Amino acid sequence: MINLILFGPPGSGKGTQAASLVDKYNLLHISTGDLFRFNIKNETALGKEAKSYIDKGELVPDSVTINMLKAKVDENPDVKGYIFDGFPRTIPQAEALDALMAEKGGISSLLMLDVPEEELVGRLLERGKTSGRADDLDENIIRNRQEVYRNETMPIFDYYFTKGKSVKVWGVGSIPMIFNRLSLELDSL
Ligand code: C5P
Ligand code: MG
Repeated sequence: MINLILFGPPGSGKGTQAASLVDKYNLLHISTGDLFRFNIKNETALGKEAKSYIDKGELVPDSVTINMLKAKVDENPDVKGYIFDGFPRTIPQAEALDALMAEKGGISSLLMLDVPEEELVGRLLERGKTSGRADDLDENIIRNRQEVYRNETMPIFDYYFTKGKSVKVWGVGSIPMIFNRLSLELDSL
């Protein structure tokens, strides 16, 4: 199996690249952000709980996010591998993911899309014009999401780096160019 963490700050292109990678490598794309938005749209209890955090650019509590992710993995046991997009966001989430993947060969690699912060803010403001996402519309919320990433999520890069699994990929350039950089890393696994 290939179990890939597609890592990087908000706006770095994880969702865009995951959409192409799943086709090429035949993997299941799991985006926890998309799962939350689906629940919000359908006004489930989970969606109502998550919305209060997401609208402020804060993280949903680990137990909620981990349970949702586990359920999605358990629903799809017979796949060639997974691409995790937007998860893990905290060290406890990374530990939970390692435990969950232990019997599936573990995490193969963490590929980080490396993009400067000012570029990210510009991209997200641009995306906000069409994404319909409240958290993409307000520059303060966008900046808060970047700060949460720096403080709570970035340590996950080092967590997997010490396991020899983290790689940075330059995330600026055309979408096909960045896709080629990611593919080169995946092909070398
Ligand atoms: O991954 P994405 O940027 O789509 O996530 C949108 C929002 O969902 C995040 O800003 C955060 O509020 C919430 N989220 C979370 N924990 C995750 C993934 C997403 O709290 N693991
Ligand atoms: Mg995304």
